[in-house]
Amino acid sequence: MYGLSQFWQSTIGKKIVMAVTGIIGILFVLGHMSGNLLMFKGQGAMHDYALLLRTSMPLLWAARLVLLAAVVLHAVSAYQLAARSRAARPQGYAKRAPQVTTWSARTMQAGGVLLLAFLVFHLLHLTVGAVHPAFTHLDPYTNVRIGLANPWVAGFYALAMVALGFHLFHGAWAVTRTLGVARPSSQPLKRRVALVLAVVVAGGFLLIPIGAMVGAFPEAPALVDPSSAAEGH
Ligand code: HEM
Repeated sequence: MYGLSQFWQSTIGKKIVMAVTGIIGILFVLGHMSGNLLMFKGQGAMHDYALLLRTSMPLLWAARLVLLAAVVLHAVSAYQLAARSRAARPQGYAKRAPQVTTWSARTMQAGGVLLLAFLVFHLLHLTVGAVHPAFTHLDPYTNVRIGLANPWVAGFYALAMVALGFHLFHGAWAVTRTLGVARPSSQPLKRRVALVLAVVVAGGFLLIPIGAMVGAFPEAPALVDPSSAAEGH
């Protein structure tokens, strides 16, 4: 236990926690983005996907707990690392000309906060349905089609996905630095794996709000009576 607490207290320990929880997040968004593309196959495909996720409720809840723990640990270590770095240099630099940085790196904190706000809204919108105008349990196709028909909501989703792309671009690269698995490259566009990951994930997700705006998801009658929403999510 002592070792674990010492690990958590150390700066490198927090960075490793950020890296490992970041990898969990990357795997999740890759899977989730691919699943969402089933919107283009139609209502039946999305319904089957929703049922597949619920094949085993204990497993689903275990995955949800791991994801929740990953998000909390990622955000807490990010906050503590930022506080530590501020405390180490309370004055700030009189003149600061960073040698190697990207817009992506400079917006990690703001982007992270935006993504957290998005996540809370998103769960209330498409999982719980509390802020959705016509939520139907187990009919994600209709929920997404109606939920993102509002241009403000679609715009917020699109903005959050762009922020996710930038966050992933810097984050995926930072993981390789923390874990020491790649030779450092100072040229942002040479970070090919991070760039491809960011473009594929953000681009794939972005197709959904764009699709909703251009009418790519034809109307289909809702699958389940909304009154059955009490069954649980
Ligand atoms: C265009 C972007 C997105 C769309 C259209 C979308 C769509 C959905 C839908 C339809 C569900 C409900 C699935 C179901 O209950 O069967 C869902 C759940 C969820 N989404 Fe997203 N999503 C998007 C982006 C994201 C992003 C970027 C994240 C994470 C950063 C995320 C995290 C989650 C989580 C954690 C759940 C709950 C899964 C569960 O425990 O049931 N989503 N999403």
